[in-house]
Amino acid sequence: MSKTLFFLLLAIFFHKTFSKEDPSTFSNYFQIKQKHIEGHFQINFNTSTIISKVKIFFESLMDGELIILDSKSLKINSIIDPDTGLNINYEYDTYYSLPSLGTPLKIYKSYSKGQNISIIINYSTTKEGGATQWLTADMTTGKKYPFMFTQGESILSRELIPIQDTPNAKITISLGITVIKPLRALYSGLYQNYIDNGNSITYFYNQKIPVPSYLIALAAGNIDERIISDRVKVYSEPEMVDSAKNEFSDTEKFIQIGETYTIPYEWGEYNILVLPKSFPYGGMENPTLTFATPSILAGDKSLANVIAHEISHSWSGNLVTMSSWKDFWLNEGFTVFIERKIAEMLIDEDMSKLQAIFGYRAMINDIFNLGESKTFSSLNPYLIGRHPDEAFSEVSYEKGFNFIYRTQNIVNKYANFDLFKLILKKYFSKFKYQAIESKKWKEHLYNCINETFNQSIYNNIIKEIDFDYWVKTPGVPKYKNDFNNSYAADADKYVNDFFDKKYDKSFNGTFSKWHTNKKLYYLLQIHTNEKGVDDEGLKYLGETLNLKEGYNSEINNEFFKIMLDNKKLTYIEELKGFLGKFGRMKFLRPLYRGWGSIDKASAYTCFEDNKYWYHPIAVRLIEMDFKKLK
Ligand code: BES
Ligand code: ZN
Repeated sequence: MSKTLFFLLLAIFFHKTFSKEDPSTFSNYFQIKQKHIEGHFQINFNTSTIISKVKIFFESLMDGELIILDSKSLKINSIIDPDTGLNINYEYDTYYSLPSLGTPLKIYKSYSKGQNISIIINYSTTKEGGATQWLTADMTTGKKYPFMFTQGESILSRELIPIQDTPNAKITISLGITVIKPLRALYSGLYQNYIDNGNSITYFYNQKIPVPSYLIALAAGNIDERIISDRVKVYSEPEMVDSAKNEFSDTEKFIQIGETYTIPYEWGEYNILVLPKSFPYGGMENPTLTFATPSILAGDKSLANVIAHEISHSWSGNLVTMSSWKDFWLNEGFTVFIERKIAEMLIDEDMSKLQAIFGYRAMINDIFNLGESKTFSSLNPYLIGRHPDEAFSEVSYEKGFNFIYRTQNIVNKYANFDLFKLILKKYFSKFKYQAIESKKWKEHLYNCINETFNQSIYNNIIKEIDFDYWVKTPGVPKYKNDFNNSYAADADKYVNDFFDKKYDKSFNGTFSKWHTNKKLYYLLQIHTNEKGVDDEGLKYLGETLNLKEGYNSEINNEFFKIMLDNKKLTYIEELKGFLGKFGRMKFLRPLYRGWGSIDKASAYTCFEDNKYWYHPIAVRLIEMDFKKLK
């Protein structure tokens, strides 16, 4: 093939595949849009598969003869036209298949503009599918029954359902889930009723608010529940359910504070499912059913900000959704902003500033790793030909947060009252149920400012906000917010003692009374100090302050990072214990990388010992991290 022809074909390929708002989907959602899914899932623990039938309802936006859906690792059995009962022709378009995006499923069905049509797909998931983790009984907390759960974000829902897997095509859903007795099935929607089939039960759920495909989530296992308030419950295996109830007892208050900065909670219920230890994230905002890691069951509610974060997604992300992964910061930045408002109201402003300091440090770290001049370190990463998870970093969260926080301060400074809160409330009521780009937020913000101020003040405010700079520029933002606070100031004195080698036993009493975040700040200051930590210092932290085991998971994690970044393997047995305790990627990835950079072989052996119960997403990413190590 000639070079010119090759590049011409390549150009056509990229054009055909990616010339739409969301480059992470193969679907032709701009021609015909999914609106509703009705389905039935049969959970089969013997084969680790789900046998499914879904009826998808579409609205045609133009004439056409083809529906293209996203799919990956699915086995399609038949596609049927519900009007005629006849089979519809379909094929996998393997020519466009990509390991990251899956294989387009072409369905030959014609439609005319404005027409509503539906199709029925009979299919099953396969063992290769990465959307689901199947845990055998020994991988659960109770060790008696198997457990399964799904993860849709970012683009894994196509491994669960053939679907337009783009946040741009929101859907309502009603679903029946059949599971063997005595197990129970949960879904990210409101529970309706059940049918007893003898050996199994079918549970019915509805999600009447249109949601993006990545919020489709289910779980099944030996699941118990406790009530927290009229609209709040916790679910988990029976062994954890009481501690979960205690840990999350403030949830109702979190929601009420969230409502004061946004609009009333629309989802009916807010439930939390604490998963077995392999859950790879801190939390996932599945509507009416937040998924959470058991590593936040600290016993003192000090890690409940993860719940405040997931609740905040009830507005940013779940009601008002980014229209593609490029605007992921719209989901996460606003969510972190609301999360920190909850911390501010529930504890105090200094506590939320303390969290903003951690966030800022983590962001700087990620910016340097991603490259200061690369679009991945901007709020609008260039994603064509890339998997959205590749761009995932603290940038969307913390640069997003810093941008919104600064905008708030500017607007409120000119207004002399909390005008920003009103702007936010209007934003949520105006754009709820929609999927939007950054520029919609910009227009809304500008309009609100314009309505409030005269032309010359308007001009000043817009200039100070510098919207496009924040959204487009990669690297460390040139504007810096002030997060000085009393917790940090007090902890800094003790950090000085540490570096003066005042390894005082009695500090333990003071330290143990501090809030977890203050402890974490103390450790972070030690961690990032260029003086480093010697054997004696590490022993002080590990043994005198006793941070090496049996402590809060975030604190253990920070302790082990200090150890590894100082190139020490002193408490390697304790580290192994920790790596066997939780499958949360936030802990595993940096710890394996740190250990691997000192002794790759032994780190990899530990990974191999645990791999069987780690989540497929975690396994994939840790393998990748090991490959990058020398
Ligand atoms: N939506 C995210 C989790 C996510 C992001 C899953 C991208 C898959 C792809 C969730 O809301 C989140 O941000 N969780 C954080 C919690 C934290 C910021 C308090 C986590 O898991 O650590
Ligand atoms: Zn989030």
